[in-house]
Amino acid sequence: MKRIITMTAFVVLAAGMGGGWRRFATAAVPAGAEQVVHMTAKKFEYSPNQITIKKGAPVVLEITALDRDHGFKVPELGIRADLKSGQVTRVRFVPDRTGTFEFRCDVFCGSGHEDMSGEIIVVD
Ligand code: CUA
Repeated sequence: MKRIITMTAFVVLAAGMGGGWRRFATAAVPAGAEQVVHMTAKKFEYSPNQITIKKGAPVVLEITALDRDHGFKVPELGIRADLKSGQVTRVRFVPDRTGTFEFRCDVFCGSGHEDMSGEIIVVD
């Protein structure tokens, strides 16, 4: 549990560096307030690779790296995280604008690395 909290803190910190998303302290969020989206990452795909979420609603992506280390980066939103092999990484944010935002792997993971991507669609 301690490891998960540490990782969450890192991800929130990393997510906040680019701005564009409203940050919030993990401890201040009541249980059940967030929409949880389960994802997996493996060579060379995310599943699901298209996520639709609602503007203004807190979301946490719980991403499990199945086979090796990968990355998760949403350049337009200033979000990035390391996905460690065999672990769940939580990426929390509150989408504050609508649109389609590409995410991609930014940790080299083999010959299909360049194609490892997906999109987040934020709707009203
Ligand atoms: Cu997965 Cu690069």
